[in-house]
Amino acid sequence: ASYDMGGHDTYMHKEISEQADAVDRVLRGRIDDRFSTVHLGGLNLDAREARGIRRVKILGCGTSYHAGLIGAGLIESLARVPADSEPASEFRYRNPVVDPDTLYIAVSQSGETYDVLAAVQELKRKGARVLGVVNVVGSAIARETDGGVYVHAGPEVCVVSTKCFTNTVVAFALLALHLGRIRDLSVADGKRIIEGLRRLPAQISEILESEDEIRKLADEYADARSMMFIGRVRGYPVALEASLKLKEISYIHAEAYPASELKHGPLALIEPALPTVAIVPDDELLEKNRAALEEIKARSGRILAVAHQEQEKADHTILVPKNEDELDPILMGIPLQLFAYHTALSLGRDIDKPRNLAKSVTVE
Ligand code: G6P
Repeated sequence: ASYDMGGHDTYMHKEISEQADAVDRVLRGRIDDRFSTVHLGGLNLDAREARGIRRVKILGCGTSYHAGLIGAGLIESLARVPADSEPASEFRYRNPVVDPDTLYIAVSQSGETYDVLAAVQELKRKGARVLGVVNVVGSAIARETDGGVYVHAGPEVCVVSTKCFTNTVVAFALLALHLGRIRDLSVADGKRIIEGLRRLPAQISEILESEDEIRKLADEYADARSMMFIGRVRGYPVALEASLKLKEISYIHAEAYPASELKHGPLALIEPALPTVAIVPDDELLEKNRAALEEIKARSGRILAVAHQEQEKADHTILVPKNEDELDPILMGIPLQLFAYHTALSLGRDIDKPRNLAKSVTVE
């Protein structure tokens, strides 16, 4: 595909910059303020069916798998249905138990990833109900699923996903809100989440304005041979996705751990040469996260925090605007897209076409 770069040097930069508009698009026409409910025209799941769901299993690969992890968290907290996300590539090889009361959701930007398509086909053979959260309209996975939610991120050309990741998570927030309002979520909580969703575009623009500062930080950390990313609960998938982004385009080794697991192993790695990027939202886990920063500082590790307020133990803090706790992960990943981007740029990498990777993997 060759779309206009619109004055940007890379598609990745263009796509990162488009996220406020993209989020506006995924929300448009889908919210009903009278009842604080959501309309998802293509979902093909009535209220009775929605009430009968006992579990949600989300399947995707790469960045879409990570979007599914945040999606699962949103579904658990807003709809109070147990939910998890698993790499589709693993799921389809373990002869999965297919349960009639589980709602299966396949996530894919391209809608063509073979492992995801094969998982959908396997599920359907076993009689499951499968929905899709897909960006490309009319793609194979969109056609093969029983219904779903289009992500409306617009065309994404860079091999690594940015705006589509963000929009996929917002689509999951809409789905979680929809299921929640049919089940247990109060009008007041529905309204609170809707207001939070509407604040996202302006808050994304605000984050993108700190690009210069993030570029300087990226230059400062670009000499690292390896980086650690940590987060807790809602912050952990943000850490996973940020570490994947850094690996994919900068080729710096990175790994993500739940902050709570540091003491069970990875703390042994901490030293000045291994910087840590920490996701530190202002939520009920703030004190726990601060304790992890202290443990790292005590071992002389460098820390870059992404947080809602300045972190005393961190060497640097990237400040992000606060939203509702449930929606914070959507915003906290965005500065780290720019961080990966500028790290790769300062190392002279081919950002839109990283070595060994393809935009969509349509073979096994
Ligand atoms: C490839 C790309 C990844 C992407 C994954 C899933 O591996 O390099 O960036 O996340 O496929 O793609 P999908 O189109 O299914 O979201």
